[in-house]
Amino acid sequence: MLDQLNEIQSAALADLQSVQDDETLQRWKIAYLGRSAPLMQAFDRLGSLPKEERPQIGRRANEVKQSLEAAFAEKAEALRQAALQQSLQVERLDVTLPGRPLPRGRVHPTTQTLRDLYRVFAEMGFQVYRSREIETDEYNFQLLNFPINHPAREMQDSYYLDTGRARGENPIMYRTHTSPGQIRAMREYAAMNPDNPPPIRIVLPGMCARYEQISTRSEMQFNQLEGLAVGDNITFGDLKGTLSDWARRFFGLNVRTRFRAAHFPFTEPSAEMDVECFVCGGKGCPVCKRSGWLEILGCGMVHPVVLHNGGYDPLRYTGYAFGMGPERITMLRHRIDDIRYFWANDLRFLEQF
Ligand code: DAH
Repeated sequence: MLDQLNEIQSAALADLQSVQDDETLQRWKIAYLGRSAPLMQAFDRLGSLPKEERPQIGRRANEVKQSLEAAFAEKAEALRQAALQQSLQVERLDVTLPGRPLPRGRVHPTTQTLRDLYRVFAEMGFQVYRSREIETDEYNFQLLNFPINHPAREMQDSYYLDTGRARGENPIMYRTHTSPGQIRAMREYAAMNPDNPPPIRIVLPGMCARYEQISTRSEMQFNQLEGLAVGDNITFGDLKGTLSDWARRFFGLNVRTRFRAAHFPFTEPSAEMDVECFVCGGKGCPVCKRSGWLEILGCGMVHPVVLHNGGYDPLRYTGYAFGMGPERITMLRHRIDDIRYFWANDLRFLEQF
């Protein structure tokens, strides 16, 4: 009986050596420690042994059982450790590897230009004033001295949101320029002190839209940057000086500018400012249509009617205004030959800035 127990033990332990996975380990447990295993049957047979042999055999059977249970637990732990090691191998992470570069987003070229414009105008004492994009015909045209049926309104075929007939020919519309912000700003400043309206020095940026044939030169949606200065004794000389100074700060100290007479309903006198062509340096090329100059903005002295509509007495105050196209300025800076790139959302274009 003792020999049998010893045999069971050595066979079981030898078998356990070759166990490599959980499933086999479970089968091993059933075979050697299960209810019908020879060892368990030995326990059942203890009762039929001669009385004097029982303690010795019983003790030995218990020893074997304990040794097999211990060997089982050890093997189970070894398998668990091996599995863990393997998963560590598979999931190994080298923290010293250089990181993968993330693609970087960028600021749209028009926004870059706008920010540069704010910075330069801020240096010159102008604050940014934001006005609404949805306007009424009254603010977009009438208060700016474009009467109803004025031929100048033909230039700006507009996006209307309604007919306006219910409000006496005052349609709601998308602004066609940032100039209506002049009236909104003047009225807001004047309301602070109606008897003595404060001086104004602001730039008004934002989106505009016109119902226009899209081409290399014109889009139906675009930005403008408007400027407005109102106060005592502001002259056309201030306007010329300010804009020439701005051009040198913005485009570089050597840039040459010129003013040409023009017409806008909301300024009198009116002018357009040109800068020397960046492409040919003023010699004449296809970009400047052989003139050597590029038109970059409209400007003028605020019309007395417009000052009055803004709540500023035109007999006491004068002012100047100007308006420019940030997309056009971006085209000049970077020699972009088609304005449609700005809204095409083509990364090959956008990634260059
Ligand atoms: N509003 C004009 C346009 O959209 C631009 C402009 C011209 C604005 C002269 C001004 C100005 O303030 O004085 O074409």
